[in-house]
Amino acid sequence: MNIFIKKRYIKSIGYLINISFVRLEKFNIMQLKKIEGKLKELLPDEVYEHTIKVKDYSYKLSKAYNFDSEKLALTAILHDCGKIYNEGEIISKAEDVGILITEIMFEDPIELLHAEISGYLAETMFNVKDKDIIHAIKTHSFGADEMGFLNKLLFVADKMNNDYDFEEYQIEEIEHLIFIDKNLDKAILKLFNILLKSLIKKDRFIHSQIVNSRNKILLSIKYENKI
Ligand SMILES: [Fe+2]
Ligand SMILES: [Fe+2]
Repeated sequence: MNIFIKKRYIKSIGYLINISFVRLEKFNIMQLKKIEGKLKELLPDEVYEHTIKVKDYSYKLSKAYNFDSEKLALTAILHDCGKIYNEGEIISKAEDVGILITEIMFEDPIELLHAEISGYLAETMFNVKDKDIIHAIKTHSFGADEMGFLNKLLFVADKMNNDYDFEEYQIEEIEHLIFIDKNLDKAILKLFNILLKSLIKKDRFIHSQIVNSRNKILLSIKYENKI
């Protein structure tokens, strides 16, 4: 597909999505269902199924941490919406919106660009104006130097519902940290370790922010004498 056709195609997807989503500062179940229905049409089946698992897990987290369940569910529903695009389209979209595309991003564009694009689409197509939600979505793949509570909850919900060849004992250990110890930072550290091992095992490219984010979490745990 040449670049002109790609751009026209992306524009048509944009038109399809941009259907009267009101400014989302307050959320409700109906708005969540409407977005969910639209994503079911647009996302590849396996991404949609993953999205629903992340949303369902988000309710467990909201209950455990007494967090706004609709806010976390909306963040979860939209976190991978950038995966409506294929490789060529996501590069084209990233160029259009001025995202710096590094050499490795051309090698694995969907994995390395979808979080930024998902945040962009959440804001521009789904009209979400809550900055915490947009930040959490944009940083869900690699973490961030400063991870707020919503970032941490989305990161955990996403990684616990990904295919990282978890051993049974690892799931139990991490869920104990999340739901019994209520120690999200330690759970995130373990998830970064599993993520890194999985990327190395599969000879995948590793974004430097993953290493930076892991170091920051490790520092904060050590600083607070949590290990
Ligand atoms: Fe993702
Ligand atoms: Fe995801």
